Amino acid sequence: MKIILGVGGGIAAYKSAELARLLMQQGHQVQAVMTEAAQRFVTPMTFAALTGRKVLTDLFAIENAIDHIGTAQENDLLVVAPATADVLAKLAHGLAGDFLSTLYLAFTGPVLLAPAMNVNMWQHPATRENVETLKRRGNRVIEPGSGYLACGMTGPGRMAEPEEIADAIEREARQHRDLEGETVLVTAGPTQEPLDPVRYISNRSSGKMGYALAEAAAARGARVVLISGPVHLAAPHGVEVIGVRTAVEMRERVFENLEPASIVIKAAAVGDFHLSKVPDQKRKKTAARLSLELDPTPDILAELGRKKGDRLLVGFAAETENLRQEARRKLESKNCDMVVGNLVGGADVGFESDENEVVLALSTGETLALERASKREIADRIFDEILKLRLSLHATHEA
Ligand SMILES: Cc1cc2nc3c(=O)[nH]c(=O)nc-3n(C[C@H](O)[C@H](O)[C@H](O)COP(=O)(O)O)c2cc1C
Repeated sequence: MKIILGVGGGIAAYKSAELARLLMQQGHQVQAVMTEAAQRFVTPMTFAALTGRKVLTDLFAIENAIDHIGTAQENDLLVVAPATADVLAKLAHGLAGDFLSTLYLAFTGPVLLAPAMNVNMWQHPATRENVETLKRRGNRVIEPGSGYLACGMTGPGRMAEPEEIADAIEREARQHRDLEGETVLVTAGPTQEPLDPVRYISNRSSGKMGYALAEAAAARGARVVLISGPVHLAAPHGVEVIGVRTAVEMRERVFENLEPASIVIKAAAVGDFHLSKVPDQKRKKTAARLSLELDPTPDILAELGRKKGDRLLVGFAAETENLRQEARRKLESKNCDMVVGNLVGGADVGFESDENEVVLALSTGETLALERASKREIADRIFDEILKLRLSLHATHEA
């Protein structure tokens, strides 16, 4: 794999030289990028000798004809070790004042960050917020260890050991582009079912889980079509987003885009009821009680289950109780291969949260629990399980 090793200005920069050596030994191509402060701790010569490549340090050194955009496009993974408090702040806020931070913005592949700093700097709310922002964005943070720090204090802040960072890179490498050549169709967000031209019924789905799934699939090399209800989220990088409003529109767009998809994930919280005939004019407020007769919306998941062919079909079950039973019941009744069950209605996980805690009901009969993590991490775990499930379904089919 082609790896960019970004080195920030901290004492742990010397450990990064060992990381460069390990990565070279494992057969990767390593391009070191050092910040100005990093060069005060270790010389570029060390990294150049270990990697066999000129170290990139200067955004404006055009005589090298090596620019940040080209470097971003040519490489598969960006690891920053040590990621100092300053580097984390720059990356979290999108600053682009040096080679490493500008490269980060231009880079579309997976990013691993190995922070290292004094315990108080690590625990400062500013750093905590920057780390949360980066995690939410899908960057992996290799948590620093606890112990004696170079500043003389003890606590969390010590950069993970080079072997541990190299292991995380190996895991990333295995996952790297394992959805290349596939088309993944994802639905996300709520629907809005109109009651008149200005009013509608909807639900609390934020779309974050579906968007995280789309982003994860794109990062792993898939072509991704994301059919989204109305949400307040930016389109994930490299994903085709088709906006819809109602359940009926969502059904139409899903079946129009189904053909090339090998994996279909229905993470949208589609409204279950709607008014089949919406009045043309706004309903006037009166003192009288208003009763509405609602009809069921089309059951998109059940229809997909009937028409899925060789596709792998994943449904979502948002429940307020009996999660495992409901996930399994939905798996069977809708002919899915996997149902992701999550509890909603609580304050800290589920619909509007950045984190989730889910169970996966699989068509092999197994039920797995994924512990609480960011929605992006959960998304990657779901794809790991989808790929494993497909292998085991093929093996059963051939046996
Ligand atoms: C001796 C020394 C050690 C330092 N170690 C760290 C460190 O481990 N982590 C950190 O975040 N900053 C550390 N700093 C502060 C950074 O070097 C400083 O914030 C610098 O601007 C970071 O630049 P960068 O963005 O290139 O990493 C240290 C500074 C000195 C003088």
